[in-house]
Amino acid sequence: MGTTIIAISNQKGGVGKSTTAYNLGACLALKHDKKVLLVDFDPQANLSEYLKYEQDGSPTMTQLIMSLYTGNPLNAETVQKAIHHNETAGVDYIPSDINLANAETLMVTMISKEYILRKVLSEDVISGYDFVLIDCLPSLGTLLINALTAADRVLIPVQTQKFSMDGLQSLEALTQLVRVNTNPKLNLVGVLPTMVDRTKVSRTAMDTLNEKYSAMLFTTSISKSVEAAKSSENGTPLCLTGHRIGKEYDELALEVLSRC
Ligand SMILES: Nc1ncnc2c1ncn2[C@@H]1O[C@H](COP(=O)(O)OP(=O)(O)O)[C@@H](O)[C@H]1O
Ligand SMILES: [Mg+2]
Repeated sequence: MGTTIIAISNQKGGVGKSTTAYNLGACLALKHDKKVLLVDFDPQANLSEYLKYEQDGSPTMTQLIMSLYTGNPLNAETVQKAIHHNETAGVDYIPSDINLANAETLMVTMISKEYILRKVLSEDVISGYDFVLIDCLPSLGTLLINALTAADRVLIPVQTQKFSMDGLQSLEALTQLVRVNTNPKLNLVGVLPTMVDRTKVSRTAMDTLNEKYSAMLFTTSISKSVEAAKSSENGTPLCLTGHRIGKEYDELALEVLSRC
C-alpha cells in the first residue's frame, strides 16, 4: 500500500474537522498500526493545540511555505525539521500558526500557487507514511485549493444541524475545478455526519444527507458528545476512552481503511 493523502474539509467552521483529523489519525495509528502524518493547514491551529504543540523555534507550515516564497528550494530535511511526534496519539504532525493566514496572502502571487503544499509534502517526506491527513481551514481560498491539489481523497464532515448543507455545493464545485485543473485523481472518500443527536433537526439533516450522498455517506456517524471537547482539551484520543464516540471513530477508521 502506498501513501493515501486525505484532505478533511468543509468551509464551515465548527463542524468537527480538527476533531476528526485528530481522532481518525490516532485510531489509524494506535489501533491499526498505521504510520500517520497529520498536517495542520488552518491558521487557527486548533489541531496543533489538540496535539499540545509548543513553539520551539523549529519551522511550522508557515515557514515551509515562506521558504518556497523566497525562492529557496525546500528539501526533505528542512520539512523533516517541522515534523513533530505526539506520543499519546501515536502520530507525527506538522504544526500551523496564525501567520499561515499571511502566507496565504503571499501565496496568491506565487508561480504554481496551487502546488505549494504538494511541494512541501514531497515523495521523500511522505513515503514512510500510510496516511497523511490534512486538516483544512474553513474557507475556499488558496490554502484549500492547495490541500485539494495535494490530496488523493476528500473527507467532508457535516454537522447534522439546520443549514448544514449550505455551502457544500461550493465545496463540490471547487473540488471539481481542482479535479479538472490541478489534480485529476482527486476523489471523495466519504461524507461524515457529525454531532448527531436525537433532535428532529438532526434526523432531517441525516435524511437529506442520505438522499444526496447515498453510498458516499459513511455508514458511521459521530454523535454529539461532551467527550469530544474533553478529549481535545486533555489530548486523550477518543478511541482510548471507551465512550460511544470513541467506538464511532473506531468504525470510521475501519471504513476509511476499506475505502482507501
Ligand atoms: N461530536 C462532537 N460532539 C460535540 N462537540 C464536538 C464534536 N466534535 C467536535 N466538537 C466540538 O466542537 C468544536 C468544533 O470542533 P472542531 O473539530 O474544532 O471543528 P472544525 O475543525 O470543523 O472547526 C470543538 O469545541 C469540539 O470540541
Ligand atoms: Mg478546525
